[in-house]
Amino acid sequence: MNADLKEKVALVTGGANGIGRATCVAFAKHGARVAVSDIDEEGGEATVRLVEEAGGEAIFLPCDVAEIEQVKNLVEQTVRRFGALHCAFNNAGIEGRNAVAAECTEDNWDRVMAINLKGVWLCMKYEIPRILQAGGGSIVNCSSVAGLVGFRGLAAYSASKHGMLGLTKTAALEYSERGVRVNAICPGVIRTPMVDRVSGNDPEIERQFVALQPIGRLGEPEEIAETTVWLCSDRAAFITGVALPADGGFVAQ
Ligand SMILES: NC(=O)c1ccc[n+]([C@@H]2O[C@H](COP(=O)([O-])OP(=O)(O)OC[C@H]3O[C@@H](n4cnc5c(N)ncnc54)[C@H](O)[C@@H]3O)[C@@H](O)[C@H]2O)c1
Repeated sequence: MNADLKEKVALVTGGANGIGRATCVAFAKHGARVAVSDIDEEGGEATVRLVEEAGGEAIFLPCDVAEIEQVKNLVEQTVRRFGALHCAFNNAGIEGRNAVAAECTEDNWDRVMAINLKGVWLCMKYEIPRILQAGGGSIVNCSSVAGLVGFRGLAAYSASKHGMLGLTKTAALEYSERGVRVNAICPGVIRTPMVDRVSGNDPEIERQFVALQPIGRLGEPEEIAETTVWLCSDRAAFITGVALPADGGFVAQ
């Protein structure tokens, strides 16, 4: 076990599946205690067991990131249970319904924005004061390659992921000097339940996704997890305000 986050406390939203789950396990492998949060209680508890099997310590805290009182309570419960907060991965997100821009419904637009954009802001609103109180730390927001370039059929998703980068950069300007680094990770197409939903498990669509990535394959959740944990650690001490692609070359084309 690498102990570069020993004595640290990490909070991960959307920790019940995919990238969030892998990141909870990676935080634990690097020595952090982990608050696993999600609306999916069964999946969240399963993540806690995976962390424990990896030799780490975790608790599950249910929270819908679109709800201000729930987010406030999530951060308070994390600090009450573990004594502090140093690292946060604001990862919970939804893809929304697939439709070209003019056919995106108002409901779909509002739901995607509420979770992917407002949800990240709400998390940061309550995490930042606690990280300052702990003497500093690091926040990573989960954007996407769709936060860097357009993505056909996912206008609300792409807009939410672009918006998150403005929020990330602004918070980095405001808080880096006080010891809180704020960055975003922009994954390419990663093998998770979200991508299974988007592709409908259709091998032809998966081939199209692979073709978008010069590296010639989908990414694995563990690859995003390792990059996120690295961004949170002191090994990335001079990095703040960036939107880091972890995408097998997707946006290099
Ligand atoms: N998989 C990819 O290819 C990919 C690429 C780029 C970015 N991302 C982003 O990575 C993040 C994780 O995606 P994933 O692929 O692991 O997806 P996933 O669907 O496998 O996991 C997302 C998790 O978020 C949770 N969630 C959904 N709405 C929530 C809410 N309101 N409050 C709290 N939790 C909620 C879900 O229950 C789920 O556990 C998302 O923000 C996604 O946009 C994914």
